[in-house]
Amino acid sequence: EDAEKSGYDHFMLKEINEQPTALRQCLRGRIDELDGTIDLDDIADLDHDGPIQFVACGTSYHAALFGAERLRTAGVQAHAYLASEYASERVPVDEGTLVVGVTQSGETADTLRALREAARAGATTLAVTNTVASSAARECDHALYIRAGPEIGVAATKTFASQQLALALLAFALSDGPTREELEALRDIPGQVQTILDTTDARAVAEAYADADAYFFIGRGYHYPVALEGALKMKEITYRHAEGFAAGELKHGPLALVTQNTPVFAIVTGNGETARKTIGNVKEVEARDAPIVAITDGESDVTRYADHVLEIPAVGDLGGSVLANVQLQLVAYWVANLLGRSIDKPRNLAKSVTVE
Ligand code: G6P
Repeated sequence: EDAEKSGYDHFMLKEINEQPTALRQCLRGRIDELDGTIDLDDIADLDHDGPIQFVACGTSYHAALFGAERLRTAGVQAHAYLASEYASERVPVDEGTLVVGVTQSGETADTLRALREAARAGATTLAVTNTVASSAARECDHALYIRAGPEIGVAATKTFASQQLALALLAFALSDGPTREELEALRDIPGQVQTILDTTDARAVAEAYADADAYFFIGRGYHYPVALEGALKMKEITYRHAEGFAAGELKHGPLALVTQNTPVFAIVTGNGETARKTIGNVKEVEARDAPIVAITDGESDVTRYADHVLEIPAVGDLGGSVLANVQLQLVAYWVANLLGRSIDKPRNLAKSVTVE
């Protein structure tokens, strides 16, 4: 097993470091350099222009939230559902609906169940998965592979980044293709993830807050699913209380939990309205003496309010949310490491949950 970790102490850290390679694999052959379009061979015969529903669990659900927002930005009606709630929510489905199951393993029972129900109602189904010939890939009408390579750590890391990128590609493929600028931004992501891995201060941040009472994560737009994912990673491998919030929801309850021993991780990119609003929320927690960790590209003045800064390159909200997540993965990893947790196999959790 040690040989398979290629010198890393844990598979999780190895897989976090494999992200530039995983993302390059995800992009390979999928950008048509000549006409600047996205070419997804796997789903070449998928021709869809109706509403899109995502179903997924855990980390994959956070990727689905991101994918749905990306599609809506491109003008496509899309929504993400928790697979385990899909049936109870009585989501309307018909022949014109595309239901996308986002599932790393392709074997999650809740997701398979939701996909099967959608297929029975006449929907077209698509599996976005890491696992060739998995149940989801075999049962769905179409399969799009994220190509992250095998992931051993129970906490999903590189597969989340690859899901984000694959769903961004899918959104471009199902709407107007990317602009030159957007294409360039997609192509730059793997190298920028490498820059973060080479320069990150995540370990120092983890050392500063390893004894915190709880960890809160806030973001808006594309950064909201990343706030949820940052908290999930922290819970899974540190066993500490962590919550992700839509930044605007803080004042509707969670603010009561904020103290000087609950660091708040705020994801802020650019300097537009979204950034300004999140900075307003940062000021609210600063007034309650909570330590603030800004994950930011430095385009706004959020650093003025921050006790720690985890820097990411300035690439806009879409790419920025992929990059910000890498910093949060590393913070969770180093807190868990300092606490001596069973990082690759957290208690009570399984890599793939095959019961409903
Ligand atoms: C389990 C894993 C999570 C994962 C979830 C969904 O709970 O521990 O890391 O996000 O299943 O898995 P899937 O294979 O469907 O993406």
